[in-house]
Amino acid sequence: MTSTLIANIGELVTCDASLGDGSALGILRDAALVIDEGVVTWVGAATDAPAADEIVDAEGGCVVPGFVDSHTHLVFAGERSAEFAARMAGASYTGGGIATTVAATRAASTAQLRSAAARRFDEMTASGTTTLEAKSGYGLTVADEARLLELSGEFTAETTFLGAHVVPPEYVHNRGAYVDLVCGEMLAACAPHARWIDAFCDLGAFDADETRRVLRAGVAAGLMPRLHGNQLAHGSGALVAAEFDAASVDHCNHLLDSDIDALAAAGVAATLLPAADFCARTPYPDARRLLDAGITVALATDCNPGTSYVTSMPFVIALAVRELGMTPAEALWAATAGGAKALRRADVGTLSVGARADLVVLDAPSYVHLAYRPGSNPTAQVFRRGVRVSSGPR
Ligand code: NIG
Ligand code: FE
Repeated sequence: MTSTLIANIGELVTCDASLGDGSALGILRDAALVIDEGVVTWVGAATDAPAADEIVDAEGGCVVPGFVDSHTHLVFAGERSAEFAARMAGASYTGGGIATTVAATRAASTAQLRSAAARRFDEMTASGTTTLEAKSGYGLTVADEARLLELSGEFTAETTFLGAHVVPPEYVHNRGAYVDLVCGEMLAACAPHARWIDAFCDLGAFDADETRRVLRAGVAAGLMPRLHGNQLAHGSGALVAAEFDAASVDHCNHLLDSDIDALAAAGVAATLLPAADFCARTPYPDARRLLDAGITVALATDCNPGTSYVTSMPFVIALAVRELGMTPAEALWAATAGGAKALRRADVGTLSVGARADLVVLDAPSYVHLAYRPGSNPTAQVFRRGVRVSSGPR
Protein backbone atom coordinates (compact mmCIF):
# COMPACT_ATOMS: atom_id res chain seq x y z
CA MET A 1 0.00 0.00 0.00
CA THR A 2 1.17 3.50 -0.74
CA SER A 3 1.61 6.21 1.88
CA THR A 4 -0.43 9.42 1.62
CA LEU A 5 0.48 12.86 2.87
CA ILE A 6 -2.43 15.18 3.63
CA ALA A 7 -0.66 18.49 3.08
CA ASN A 8 -1.59 22.13 3.51
CA ILE A 9 -4.00 21.65 6.44
CA GLY A 10 -4.92 25.07 7.85
CA GLU A 11 -6.46 23.64 11.03
CA LEU A 12 -5.98 20.01 12.06
CA VAL A 13 -8.38 18.84 14.77
CA THR A 14 -7.07 15.58 16.23
CA CYS A 15 -9.45 15.19 19.23
CA ASP A 16 -6.31 14.03 21.07
CA ALA A 17 -5.65 16.42 23.96
CA SER A 18 -1.98 15.38 24.07
CA LEU A 19 -1.45 17.00 20.67
CA GLY A 20 -1.34 20.59 19.45
CA ASP A 21 -2.89 23.32 21.57
CA GLY A 22 -3.61 21.00 24.50
CA SER A 23 -7.38 21.56 24.35
CA ALA A 24 -9.74 18.56 24.18
CA LEU A 25 -9.72 19.03 20.39
CA GLY A 26 -5.90 18.88 20.18
CA ILE A 27 -5.66 21.47 17.38
CA LEU A 28 -2.55 22.01 15.23
CA ARG A 29 -2.31 24.91 12.76
CA ASP A 30 -0.51 24.73 9.40
CA ALA A 31 -0.21 21.01 9.79
CA ALA A 32 0.15 17.80 7.82
CA LEU A 33 -0.71 14.16 8.42
CA VAL A 34 0.62 10.91 6.94
CA ILE A 35 -1.42 7.76 6.32
CA ASP A 36 0.12 4.33 5.79
CA GLU A 37 -1.68 0.99 5.62
CA GLY A 38 -4.95 2.71 6.56
CA VAL A 39 -3.53 4.13 9.78
CA VAL A 40 -2.30 7.59 10.81
CA THR A 41 1.48 7.29 11.07
CA TRP A 42 2.58 10.92 11.47
CA VAL A 43 1.02 14.21 12.56
CA GLY A 44 2.90 17.52 12.80
CA ALA A 45 3.83 20.90 11.38
CA ALA A 46 3.50 21.21 7.60
CA THR A 47 7.10 22.38 7.40
CA ASP A 48 8.34 19.09 8.95
CA ALA A 49 6.20 16.78 6.80
CA PRO A 50 8.00 13.67 5.58
CA ALA A 51 7.82 12.50 1.95
CA ALA A 52 5.02 10.14 0.91
CA ASP A 53 3.98 8.29 -2.25
CA GLU A 54 0.89 10.44 -2.77
CA ILE A 55 -0.07 13.96 -1.76
CA VAL A 56 -3.58 15.21 -1.03
CA ASP A 57 -3.86 19.00 -0.88
CA ALA A 58 -6.24 20.15 1.87
CA GLU A 59 -6.07 23.63 0.32
CA GLY A 60 -5.66 25.33 3.68
CA GLY A 61 -8.93 23.85 4.96
CA CYS A 62 -9.73 22.17 8.23
CA VAL A 63 -9.32 18.41 8.79
CA VAL A 64 -11.33 16.61 11.48
CA PRO A 65 -11.68 12.95 12.49
CA GLY A 66 -14.40 11.09 10.60
CA PHE A 67 -17.71 11.23 12.47
CA VAL A 68 -18.70 8.27 14.65
CA ASP A 69 -22.48 7.90 14.41
CA SER A 70 -23.06 5.63 17.39
CA HIS A 71 -26.85 5.26 17.08
CA THR A 72 -28.68 4.47 13.84
CA HIS A 73 -31.54 2.28 12.69
CA LEU A 74 -30.00 1.88 9.23
CA VAL A 75 -32.05 -0.97 7.79
CA PHE A 76 -35.79 -0.48 7.30
CA ALA A 77 -38.44 -0.16 4.61
CA GLY A 78 -41.63 1.86 4.28
CA GLU A 79 -42.78 5.44 4.26
CA ARG A 80 -43.86 7.62 7.21
CA SER A 81 -43.76 11.17 5.95
CA ALA A 82 -47.49 11.57 6.64
CA GLU A 83 -46.81 10.84 10.32
CA PHE A 84 -44.18 13.61 10.33
CA ALA A 85 -46.62 16.03 8.65
CA ALA A 86 -49.30 15.16 11.23
CA ARG A 87 -46.83 15.90 14.02
CA MET A 88 -45.95 19.23 12.52
CA ALA A 89 -49.70 19.95 12.52
CA GLY A 90 -49.87 19.25 16.25
CA ALA A 91 -49.99 15.47 16.76
CA SER A 92 -47.55 14.12 19.32
CA TYR A 93 -45.02 11.28 18.98
CA THR A 94 -45.84 8.06 20.85
CA GLY A 95 -43.78 5.38 19.13
CA GLY A 96 -47.00 3.89 17.70
CA GLY A 97 -45.71 4.35 14.15
CA ILE A 98 -42.97 1.78 14.72
CA ALA A 99 -45.55 -0.90 13.80
CA THR A 100 -45.94 0.70 10.35
CA THR A 101 -42.23 0.31 9.66
CA VAL A 102 -42.23 -3.21 11.07
CA ALA A 103 -44.98 -4.26 8.63
CA ALA A 104 -43.19 -2.67 5.65
CA THR A 105 -39.83 -4.12 6.66
CA ARG A 106 -41.20 -7.64 7.03
CA ALA A 107 -42.80 -7.34 3.57
CA ALA A 108 -39.65 -6.03 1.85
CA SER A 109 -37.23 -8.30 0.02
CA THR A 110 -33.67 -8.55 1.27
CA ALA A 111 -32.48 -6.86 -1.94
CA GLN A 112 -34.86 -3.93 -1.34
CA LEU A 113 -33.69 -3.54 2.24
CA ARG A 114 -30.06 -3.72 1.17
CA SER A 115 -30.39 -1.05 -1.50
CA ALA A 116 -32.34 1.31 0.78
CA ALA A 117 -29.72 0.90 3.51
CA ALA A 118 -26.91 1.43 0.98
CA ARG A 119 -28.43 4.74 -0.11
CA ARG A 120 -28.55 5.94 3.50
CA PHE A 121 -25.03 4.65 4.13
CA ASP A 122 -23.74 6.56 1.08
CA GLU A 123 -25.43 9.74 2.31
CA MET A 124 -23.79 9.27 5.71
CA THR A 125 -20.39 8.76 4.11
CA ALA A 126 -20.79 11.83 1.91
CA SER A 127 -21.44 13.93 5.01
CA GLY A 128 -18.36 12.62 6.80
CA THR A 129 -19.46 9.59 8.81
CA THR A 130 -16.77 6.92 8.80
CA THR A 131 -18.02 4.65 11.62
CA LEU A 132 -21.63 3.86 12.38
CA GLU A 133 -23.65 1.63 14.62
CA ALA A 134 -26.76 -0.05 13.16
CA LYS A 135 -29.63 -1.69 15.02
CA SER A 136 -32.26 -4.26 14.22
CA GLY A 137 -35.69 -3.61 15.71
CA TYR A 138 -38.00 -3.32 12.71
CA GLY A 139 -38.34 -7.07 12.13
CA LEU A 140 -39.49 -8.37 15.52
CA THR A 141 -39.68 -12.00 14.38
CA VAL A 142 -36.80 -14.44 14.74
CA ALA A 143 -36.11 -14.55 11.01
CA ASP A 144 -36.61 -10.83 10.37
CA GLU A 145 -34.41 -9.66 13.23
CA ALA A 146 -31.64 -12.03 12.14
CA ARG A 147 -32.06 -10.79 8.55
CA LEU A 148 -31.74 -7.13 9.61
CA LEU A 149 -28.59 -7.88 11.60
CA GLU A 150 -26.99 -9.84 8.79
CA LEU A 151 -27.70 -6.91 6.46
CA SER A 152 -26.40 -4.39 9.03
CA GLY A 153 -23.20 -6.42 9.18
CA GLU A 154 -22.64 -5.68 5.49
CA PHE A 155 -22.22 -2.00 6.44
CA THR A 156 -20.65 -2.04 9.89
CA ALA A 157 -19.15 -4.21 12.62
CA GLU A 158 -21.13 -2.24 15.22
CA THR A 159 -24.37 -4.18 15.03
CA THR A 160 -26.99 -4.08 17.77
CA PHE A 161 -29.81 -6.53 18.50
CA LEU A 162 -32.94 -4.48 19.34
CA GLY A 163 -35.62 -7.20 19.38
CA ALA A 164 -36.95 -5.29 22.41
CA HIS A 165 -37.86 -2.20 20.37
CA VAL A 166 -41.60 -2.53 20.95
CA VAL A 167 -43.95 -5.47 21.47
CA PRO A 168 -45.17 -6.33 17.95
CA PRO A 169 -48.94 -6.30 17.25
CA GLU A 170 -49.29 -10.10 17.33
CA TYR A 171 -48.04 -10.17 20.95
CA VAL A 172 -49.81 -7.13 22.45
CA HIS A 173 -51.98 -9.31 24.65
CA ASN A 174 -49.10 -11.56 25.57
CA ARG A 175 -46.08 -9.36 26.16
CA GLY A 176 -44.44 -11.83 28.55
CA ALA A 177 -44.29 -14.36 25.74
CA TYR A 178 -42.66 -11.78 23.48
CA VAL A 179 -39.96 -11.01 26.04
CA ASP A 180 -39.42 -14.80 26.37
CA LEU A 181 -38.98 -15.00 22.60
CA VAL A 182 -36.52 -12.06 22.54
CA CYS A 183 -34.46 -13.63 25.34
CA GLY A 184 -34.65 -17.13 23.88
CA GLU A 185 -34.98 -18.16 20.26
CA MET A 186 -34.60 -14.64 18.80
CA LEU A 187 -31.44 -13.88 20.76
CA ALA A 188 -29.97 -17.25 19.78
CA ALA A 189 -30.54 -16.46 16.09
CA CYS A 190 -29.29 -12.88 16.39
CA ALA A 191 -26.32 -13.05 18.75
CA PRO A 192 -23.95 -14.45 16.09
CA HIS A 193 -24.60 -11.31 14.00
CA ALA A 194 -24.52 -8.72 16.78
CA ARG A 195 -21.99 -7.03 19.05
CA TRP A 196 -24.49 -5.15 21.25
CA ILE A 197 -27.77 -5.78 23.06
CA ASP A 198 -30.23 -2.87 23.31
CA ALA A 199 -33.81 -2.31 24.52
CA PHE A 200 -36.21 0.64 24.33
CA CYS A 201 -36.80 1.20 28.04
CA ASP A 202 -39.49 3.87 27.95
CA LEU A 203 -43.17 4.74 28.21
CA GLY A 204 -45.13 2.47 25.86
CA ALA A 205 -42.16 0.19 25.18
CA PHE A 206 -40.45 -1.94 27.88
CA ASP A 207 -40.35 -1.45 31.65
CA ALA A 208 -37.34 -1.81 33.93
CA ASP A 209 -37.82 -5.49 34.71
CA GLU A 210 -38.42 -6.47 31.10
CA THR A 211 -35.34 -4.46 30.11
CA ARG A 212 -33.25 -6.18 32.78
CA ARG A 213 -34.32 -9.59 31.48
CA VAL A 214 -33.32 -8.66 27.94
CA LEU A 215 -29.95 -7.21 28.95
CA ARG A 216 -29.17 -10.16 31.24
CA ALA A 217 -29.90 -12.63 28.44
CA GLY A 218 -27.92 -10.59 25.91
CA VAL A 219 -24.90 -10.34 28.20
CA ALA A 220 -25.07 -14.10 28.85
CA ALA A 221 -24.97 -14.58 25.06
CA GLY A 222 -21.79 -12.49 24.84
CA LEU A 223 -23.26 -9.14 23.78
CA MET A 224 -22.46 -5.79 25.39
CA PRO A 225 -25.28 -3.63 26.75
CA ARG A 226 -26.50 -0.22 25.59
CA LEU A 227 -30.00 1.24 25.99
CA HIS A 228 -32.62 3.58 24.60
CA GLY A 229 -33.94 5.40 27.68
CA ASN A 230 -35.60 8.46 29.15
CA GLN A 231 -36.78 9.72 25.75
CA LEU A 232 -40.56 9.99 26.08
CA ALA A 233 -40.88 10.28 29.85
CA HIS A 234 -38.85 9.89 32.99
CA GLY A 235 -38.28 6.16 33.42
CA SER A 236 -35.71 3.64 34.53
CA GLY A 237 -33.50 3.55 31.42
CA ALA A 238 -30.60 5.52 32.87
CA LEU A 239 -30.63 3.61 36.16
CA VAL A 240 -30.78 0.22 34.45
CA ALA A 241 -27.97 1.30 32.11
CA ALA A 242 -25.86 2.18 35.15
CA GLU A 243 -26.76 -1.12 36.85
CA PHE A 244 -25.49 -3.07 33.82
CA ASP A 245 -22.39 -0.90 33.17
CA ALA A 246 -23.82 -0.19 29.74
CA ALA A 247 -21.56 1.59 27.27
CA SER A 248 -24.23 4.24 26.71
CA VAL A 249 -27.79 5.29 27.40
CA ASP A 250 -29.30 7.08 24.44
CA HIS A 251 -31.81 9.98 24.21
CA CYS A 252 -31.70 11.17 27.90
CA ASN A 253 -34.41 13.82 27.52
CA HIS A 254 -35.89 13.25 30.98
CA LEU A 255 -33.28 12.81 33.69
CA LEU A 256 -33.40 13.44 37.45
CA ASP A 257 -30.27 14.41 39.39
CA SER A 258 -30.21 10.85 40.76
CA ASP A 259 -30.02 9.47 37.19
CA ILE A 260 -27.13 11.80 36.40
CA ASP A 261 -25.31 10.74 39.58
CA ALA A 262 -25.78 7.06 38.67
CA LEU A 263 -24.50 7.55 35.11
CA ALA A 264 -21.47 9.50 36.32
CA ALA A 265 -20.63 6.91 38.99
CA ALA A 266 -20.94 3.99 36.55
CA GLY A 267 -19.08 5.76 33.70
CA VAL A 268 -21.98 5.30 31.26
CA ALA A 269 -21.88 7.64 28.25
CA ALA A 270 -24.97 9.69 27.38
CA THR A 271 -25.71 9.70 23.66
CA LEU A 272 -27.83 12.67 22.69
CA LEU A 273 -29.95 12.56 19.54
CA PRO A 274 -31.12 16.12 18.90
CA ALA A 275 -32.28 15.40 15.36
CA ALA A 276 -34.94 13.11 16.87
CA ASP A 277 -36.12 15.94 19.11
CA PHE A 278 -36.06 18.33 16.17
CA CYS A 279 -38.17 16.01 13.99
CA ALA A 280 -40.46 14.77 16.76
CA ARG A 281 -40.77 18.28 18.19
CA THR A 282 -40.00 17.02 21.68
CA PRO A 283 -37.97 18.86 24.34
CA TYR A 284 -34.20 18.70 23.90
CA PRO A 285 -31.97 17.14 26.56
CA ASP A 286 -29.71 19.38 28.65
CA ALA A 287 -26.16 18.60 27.56
CA ARG A 288 -24.66 21.15 29.93
CA ARG A 289 -26.00 19.29 32.97
CA LEU A 290 -24.39 16.06 31.74
CA LEU A 291 -21.08 17.69 30.84
CA ASP A 292 -20.92 19.48 34.21
CA ALA A 293 -21.38 16.10 35.92
CA GLY A 294 -18.34 14.76 34.03
CA ILE A 295 -20.37 12.35 31.89
CA THR A 296 -19.06 11.48 28.41
CA VAL A 297 -21.51 12.93 25.90
CA ALA A 298 -21.83 11.48 22.41
CA LEU A 299 -23.90 12.84 19.53
CA ALA A 300 -25.55 10.62 16.92
CA THR A 301 -28.23 10.86 14.22
CA ASP A 302 -30.67 8.14 15.40
CA CYS A 303 -31.38 7.77 11.67
CA ASN A 304 -34.82 6.11 11.57
CA PRO A 305 -38.07 6.65 9.65
CA GLY A 306 -40.14 7.71 12.67
CA THR A 307 -38.36 10.36 14.66
CA SER A 308 -35.23 11.24 12.71
CA TYR A 309 -34.85 10.54 9.01
CA VAL A 310 -31.47 12.26 9.23
CA THR A 311 -28.11 11.00 8.01
CA SER A 312 -25.98 14.12 8.53
CA MET A 313 -23.69 14.43 11.53
CA PRO A 314 -22.90 18.08 10.63
CA PHE A 315 -26.63 18.82 11.03
CA VAL A 316 -26.59 17.07 14.42
CA ILE A 317 -23.56 19.15 15.48
CA ALA A 318 -25.36 22.34 14.44
CA LEU A 319 -28.43 21.35 16.47
CA ALA A 320 -26.32 20.44 19.50
CA VAL A 321 -24.69 23.85 19.46
CA ARG A 322 -27.90 25.78 18.84
CA GLU A 323 -30.27 23.75 21.03
CA LEU A 324 -28.37 21.66 23.59
CA GLY A 325 -26.07 24.36 24.91
CA MET A 326 -22.85 22.76 23.65
CA THR A 327 -19.94 24.77 22.31
CA PRO A 328 -18.82 23.94 18.75
CA ALA A 329 -15.73 22.30 20.28
CA GLU A 330 -17.78 20.13 22.65
CA ALA A 331 -20.15 19.14 19.86
CA LEU A 332 -17.37 18.12 17.47
CA TRP A 333 -15.67 16.09 20.22
CA ALA A 334 -18.99 14.38 21.05
CA ALA A 335 -19.56 13.53 17.36
CA THR A 336 -16.13 11.90 17.02
CA ALA A 337 -14.24 10.88 20.19
CA GLY A 338 -17.48 10.81 22.21
CA GLY A 339 -19.15 8.46 19.73
CA ALA A 340 -16.09 6.22 19.84
CA LYS A 341 -16.32 6.03 23.64
CA ALA A 342 -20.04 5.22 23.40
CA LEU A 343 -19.01 2.27 21.20
CA ARG A 344 -15.99 1.42 23.40
CA ARG A 345 -13.71 1.93 20.42
CA ALA A 346 -10.14 3.17 20.87
CA ASP A 347 -9.14 3.03 17.20
CA VAL A 348 -11.54 5.65 15.81
CA GLY A 349 -12.74 9.14 16.77
CA THR A 350 -9.27 10.74 17.02
CA LEU A 351 -6.39 11.42 14.65
CA SER A 352 -3.67 10.21 17.00
CA VAL A 353 -0.72 8.31 15.56
CA GLY A 354 -1.89 4.68 15.34
CA ALA A 355 -5.57 5.58 14.90
CA ARG A 356 -7.55 4.42 11.88
CA ALA A 357 -7.09 6.95 9.09
CA ASP A 358 -10.73 8.05 9.08
CA LEU A 359 -10.88 11.75 8.38
CA VAL A 360 -12.79 14.56 6.76
CA VAL A 361 -11.18 17.39 4.82
CA LEU A 362 -13.58 20.31 5.19
CA ASP A 363 -14.20 22.94 2.56
CA ALA A 364 -13.92 25.49 5.38
CA PRO A 365 -11.11 27.13 7.35
CA SER A 366 -12.42 26.09 10.77
CA TYR A 367 -14.38 23.24 12.35
CA VAL A 368 -16.77 25.91 13.67
CA HIS A 369 -18.31 25.96 10.18
CA LEU A 370 -19.93 22.62 11.04
CA ALA A 371 -22.24 24.52 13.40
CA TYR A 372 -22.06 27.93 11.77
CA ARG A 373 -23.45 26.80 8.40
CA PRO A 374 -26.37 24.52 9.27
CA GLY A 375 -27.83 22.68 6.30
CA SER A 376 -24.69 22.87 4.20
CA ASN A 377 -22.46 19.87 3.63
CA PRO A 378 -18.99 21.21 4.35
CA THR A 379 -17.09 18.04 3.41
CA ALA A 380 -14.56 18.26 0.56
CA GLN A 381 -13.08 14.76 0.89
CA VAL A 382 -13.76 11.82 3.20
CA PHE A 383 -11.24 9.05 3.93
CA ARG A 384 -12.07 5.74 5.60
CA ARG A 385 -9.09 3.51 6.54
CA GLY A 386 -6.98 5.84 4.40
CA VAL A 387 -9.10 5.33 1.29
CA ARG A 388 -10.96 8.27 -0.24
CA VAL A 389 -14.64 7.30 -0.06
CA SER A 390 -16.18 10.65 -0.98
CA SER A 391 -15.07 13.71 -2.89
CA GLY A 392 -17.50 16.28 -1.64
CA PRO A 393 -21.26 16.64 -1.34
CA ARG A 394 -23.47 14.33 -3.35
O1 NIG B 1 -34.76 5.92 18.54
N1 NIG B 1 -36.99 5.38 20.43
C1 NIG B 1 -37.27 4.41 19.77
N2 NIG B 1 -37.02 4.18 18.52
C2 NIG B 1 -36.70 5.14 17.54
C3 NIG B 1 -37.89 5.61 16.81
C4 NIG B 1 -38.56 4.53 16.12
C5 NIG B 1 -39.67 4.89 15.20
O2 NIG B 1 -40.53 5.75 15.48
O3 NIG B 1 -39.69 4.21 14.15
C6 NIG B 1 -35.86 6.25 18.12
O4 NIG B 1 -36.26 7.43 18.19
FE1 FE C 1 -33.04 4.96 18.29
